[in-house]
Amino acid sequence: MLHKQIDIFNFLVFLFLATVLYAFAVLLFPSNSIEPLEDGCCINTSENIQRKSTLASIKFQKGKSLFKAKCASCHNKNMKDDLTGPALAGYATRWAAYPKEDLFLWIKNSSKMIANKHPRALLLWKKYKVLMPSFSSLEENDIEAILLYIDEISELR
Ligand code: HEC
Repeated sequence: MLHKQIDIFNFLVFLFLATVLYAFAVLLFPSNSIEPLEDGCCINTSENIQRKSTLASIKFQKGKSLFKAKCASCHNKNMKDDLTGPALAGYATRWAAYPKEDLFLWIKNSSKMIANKHPRALLLWKKYKVLMPSFSSLEENDIEAILLYIDEISELR
């Protein structure tokens, strides 16, 4: 009888310790923590794929809110029809002849590009005759997020 009671006591102690250990593990390594991944750094385990797609959707959401706040007043959010400014679907093809920085510079300060007689800037200016405001406060990764958003919406429609 006493032997049995000790067994049950031991078992309960074991259960208690296991629970405490588990709680510690969950606190220390939350499974939904998102750490930035360098491109191509890691093996594509399903967890990493999920993390990457979580990061991509965070970037997409960031691009969406920046686009709505700063671009949507002139660029149609369906990306297909012109508004005050041109439809943005297919922008990459139209800028493909120039280094990637040119497009970023255009978004940051289009009038400077026109003043510097960049061929694409001159063409756009001739056609639309409306100055796009400069967005010098946008960081490189803000612009990348906006472009990702434009790409995804263009593909959807
Ligand atoms: C006040 C209106 C206005 C706003 C706001 C605006 N744009 Fe524009 N955008 C234009 C106009 C007009 C043009 C055509 C060129 C010109 O006349 O300057 C243009 C051209 C462009 C082009 C070149 C398209 C092509 O086919 O080459 C891109 C890319 C672009 N805008 C991106 C953006 C982004 C990104 C934002 C937000 C951060 C933005 N624009 C905000 C008016 C605007």
